[in-house]
Order: sequence, then structure tokens, then C-alpha cells
Amino acid sequence: MLIKNANIRGREGKWDILIENGKFSKIEARLEAANGEEIIDASGKMVIPPYVDSHVHLDYVCTYGEPRYNMSGTLFEGISIWSERKKTLTKEDVKRRARHVLDWEIAHGTQFIRTHVNSDEPGHVSAEALLELKDEVKHLVDLQIVAFPQHGVYNFPNGDKLLEETVKMGVDAVGAIPHYEDTREDLVASLYHCFDLAEKYDKLVDVHCDETDDPQSRAIEQVAHQAWKREMFGKVTASHTTAMGSYNNAYAFKLMGVLERSQINIISNATINIHLQGRYDSYPKRRGITRVDELLANHINVSMGCDDIMEPFYPLGVGDMLDVLNMGIHVSHLTGYQQIQDSLDLITKNGARTLNRENDYGIEEGKTANLLIVPADDTYDLIRRHVKPEFSIRNGIVIMKRQPENVTIYNNDSAVKVNYTVEK
Ligand code: FE2
Repeated sequence: MLIKNANIRGREGKWDILIENGKFSKIEARLEAANGEEIIDASGKMVIPPYVDSHVHLDYVCTYGEPRYNMSGTLFEGISIWSERKKTLTKEDVKRRARHVLDWEIAHGTQFIRTHVNSDEPGHVSAEALLELKDEVKHLVDLQIVAFPQHGVYNFPNGDKLLEETVKMGVDAVGAIPHYEDTREDLVASLYHCFDLAEKYDKLVDVHCDETDDPQSRAIEQVAHQAWKREMFGKVTASHTTAMGSYNNAYAFKLMGVLERSQINIISNATINIHLQGRYDSYPKRRGITRVDELLANHINVSMGCDDIMEPFYPLGVGDMLDVLNMGIHVSHLTGYQQIQDSLDLITKNGARTLNRENDYGIEEGKTANLLIVPADDTYDLIRRHVKPEFSIRNGIVIMKRQPENVTIYNNDSAVKVNYTVEK
């Protein structure tokens, strides 16, 4: 395949991209197509690597309203509804819903996804479903799976053993939810257990960490310390860390140094946390978002995720990382002009780094030919107009094609009746 006239993000000028055997073989100013070669003329449109959704729960998706709607919008009503819904889970049910949402994600340009899966279900139905699905969809999307003890490791019967059973099924990462444990001692013990399992089975770590507005919730320091002490550099992720938004600045300043030294990844799930956090505040009401701008300024890798899509914990979502990014840059005050340009990294290369996929990610010769063609002028234009990808190409093969939207305004009241197409 030869892609002509590509505006590759991060490079000046227009480029031709030759793809052979699923890899980028040549990227030059001008390349000629061989006889019979498939040609796509990008016509100056942007070419970027595929989006990365670094945090989602595919076992929960598309259950909104089952068996009832969340009327308060709170996490606690969500948990209560989920405890009813989970009684009816089957492998087929989980696979069907997850597969459906994967199509939404693929349609919006995502090719790399880290999903969590509950480890505390009898029979591990959801883990079995997602592990099967991972293999079935690998030509469309990379799925990474985290064993996630939703109800805690030590405040749920056999939570520690159930977590290890799920890890042994062949997932990619071990999770924990330390702020949900009953005591400070169990918070720490649950993290030791999580890291011990990761070392024993050679897995990554992704902890649901301090997803609360409680400024005393400081599991993050233990997660980072364990990552540093065990030399698991780059392999450890703390998701949410919303309490960081409520820490005092003296503690946050010290913490930034600990995080940088540990080379930990942080994931912000902006749509979910602006929805769930601040629920116990009257006014002024906190945003409940981690310190994305400060983390980035301190050279800490930050990416973003959808987290929940149409389920008891969150009612909306279409699996579009541009939705998440749009919310994220607003609530994180990343709306300076250069910050907007740079923010696409949060759902592209930073996500790939979180997933430990950065070595084979990006538009560079020798790497696997995964890319999006987006009809935007530049990154600012892409984000401002929320421009959806026209092509998603994976391993050098088109896996998604979209007809761009075409809107005409009929100016019937004008003296000179001009109909025109809205472009930008
Ligand atoms: Fe989550």
C-alpha cells in the first residue's frame, strides 16, 4: 500500500508512506507505486498513530438501565445496581456487549485498549469472556487485560485468592483498589499482594488508586514507592488518582518527586471523574480530577481512558477518545494553544507508553503500519472540530473507512439565495 501526500503529525511537509508486509518500509517526500499497488491519496490530511484507550471496563459496558437506571448519578447507587446486574452475567452476555463496544472504539480510531475485568466473580465468567475476545479481535485491536478486585482484596471473602486465580488465567496486569479497603493496614497489604503477584507471574500493575475526593487518601505514595523499590520502572500505572486534586500543595510537591523517580504512569478518566467526584461537596464544588498539568510538567507519563460506557456508574459514552480528551483538556486547564496541540499525546503516544507498547508505536520506518488518516489541517483543528478519522489502517490493511459528514445550509431568507456546504 502507498499513502500519498500525508501530513504526518510532528513532521514538516507532505510525505509518501510505503507499507510492505504490514510495516512502514519507506517514508519519503516522493515515492512511486509499483504495478497494482493499492494507493490512498491522503491529499494533505493528517496521518497520526491510532488512539489508545488506556482504561476501560469492557465487562460492564452497555448495561445502563439493567435492571434499573441510576437516578442519583452517584457511585454508591451504581455499585448497588451492579451488584444486582452481575448476578445475571454469562460469558455470552459479556462477550456480546464488549464486542459491540469494540466496534464503537474501532470506528473512532482506537486500536489499543487496556480493559479491566472483575476478579471477584464466581467462575470468573467475565475474565474468560474477555480473554477469548482478546484473541478473536487481535486483527482489529490490541486488548490488554487487568485483573481488577472491584470489591477489595481484604474486605471481600477470598479476594486475595480470587485475584491470583484471575492472574493465572493469563491476563496482562494485576490490579488493586487500595482506597476501598477497610483499613490503612489492608490498603498497604493489598498493594504488597498486587505487586507480589505481578513479580511472581511477570505482569504489569494497574491500580485503581485514590478515586475519591478525600485528601487523606494517599495510596499513590505506596504504589510509586513499590514501583521504585522493586525496580518496576515503566511497568506500573495508577489510574484515577483524583484525591490528588484535593491534596495540599506541600504534599503534592513532595509527591511529584516520588512519582517521577518511580517512572510510574498516571491515567486520568476525565469524563467519569467529573461525573462522579465532588458529589459530597456543596459549593464551591471540586472538580475531582488529578493534577494532569503538574504531572506533565514534572515529566510523568499521563494518558487518558474512557473508563465506563453506558453502565450503572456512568450513563453516556460512545467509545470515542476525542470525547474524553475534550473533557480532559477543559477540566485540567490544558487549553493554552500549545497545550491543545500537545494534548493529543494523552490519547496516543502516552497511552502506548502506559501499555508498554511504545517500541512499536508511531509513524516510523520499520514499525508496524498502524495509522489513522484524519481530514484535519493540524492537531488544533482536529481537536477543535472533533474530526473523526476517515481511515483506520492496521498491519497495513484498512479496518475502518468513514464517509466524511457533509452539511449544507439552505439560506432561504437571503436576498441572494446561496446554499453552501459547512466545512470548518
Ligand atoms: Fe476504572
